[in-house]
Amino acid sequence: MKKFLSISDIPDLDKAIKNALELKEDSMKFSTLGKGKNLVMVFFNPSLRTRFSTKIAAQNLGLGITTLDVAQQTWPLEFGLNTIMDGHTSEHIKEAAMVLSSYFDLIAVRSFPQLKNRDIDLKDVVLKNFSKYATVPIINMESATAHPLQSFADAITIRETKINNPKIVLSWAPHPKSIPHSVPNSFVKMCKQAGMNLVIANPPGYDLDPTITSGIKVFHHQEESFENADIIYSKNWSSYESYGQVLPTDQNWMIDLAKMDLTNRAKFMHCLPVRRNVVVEDEVLDSEHSLIQRQVQNRTVAAQYVMHQILTNVPTY
Ligand code: CP
Repeated sequence: MKKFLSISDIPDLDKAIKNALELKEDSMKFSTLGKGKNLVMVFFNPSLRTRFSTKIAAQNLGLGITTLDVAQQTWPLEFGLNTIMDGHTSEHIKEAAMVLSSYFDLIAVRSFPQLKNRDIDLKDVVLKNFSKYATVPIINMESATAHPLQSFADAITIRETKINNPKIVLSWAPHPKSIPHSVPNSFVKMCKQAGMNLVIANPPGYDLDPTITSGIKVFHHQEESFENADIIYSKNWSSYESYGQVLPTDQNWMIDLAKMDLTNRAKFMHCLPVRRNVVVEDEVLDSEHSLIQRQVQNRTVAAQYVMHQILTNVPTY
């Protein structure tokens, strides 16, 4: 693997899940693989899980680790081409990527969308520019359109349930703020790539990017979609059609015990952070059917598998 920008950068997902589960059993198996090499984690946005799971995964591989919080720790970056840089930006991504590539062997990047202009966000400017100008492998720690480390961890978590061909419902849930599409986008892509039995439930006006959801049944009635479900994956996202907006929609889409009772004693998943009693009721999140801690734990093995694959492709000096 030369980069990890999308879940499709894992060519054989089934094999990757098996190998990741083996790695989980023996997380220090490759503890010297990264010796003498360094990872920089570049954050344009906050993180709890991604920050620490990627760090621990890198430690397990023997990598040196540096974290760069862009807003506090470096110059404001310019991403435009042929820009006359007489405004607030001080350094162009061309130089920043060259500098980081000179000091580090892997660059991991987190950059959220603005959720104001769909065409701009779909260009995934920050991640794509790092990928274009860096000369070392890039890892996507959540970009404007994708969160593949999360969806790979989710694939591992679903495999661990040992449910045979589970019916999975990706269900929209309410949220007061405008939330990106990256997690549901990558979850849908992962399920399609793995041949999983996925349906999506969201209110009218919240259909995801149709180029991503093509071939997947979309319900606009949540309770209908929950019948016989084995896994409920709850997530809020802002409107894709009325791009970035929080529509004045029915708040009755929160996941509660009454809805979970419609399922086949389904497991509950959420990538976190989650707003309790807005997205999901306490009783569901705290129940024995909740897989949230497993998802959190599997973020480490997902990141470790990805970096292992990249390191075994990196030329040695
Ligand atoms: N799920 C996830 O990516 O969490 P963080 O935003 O805290 O990294």
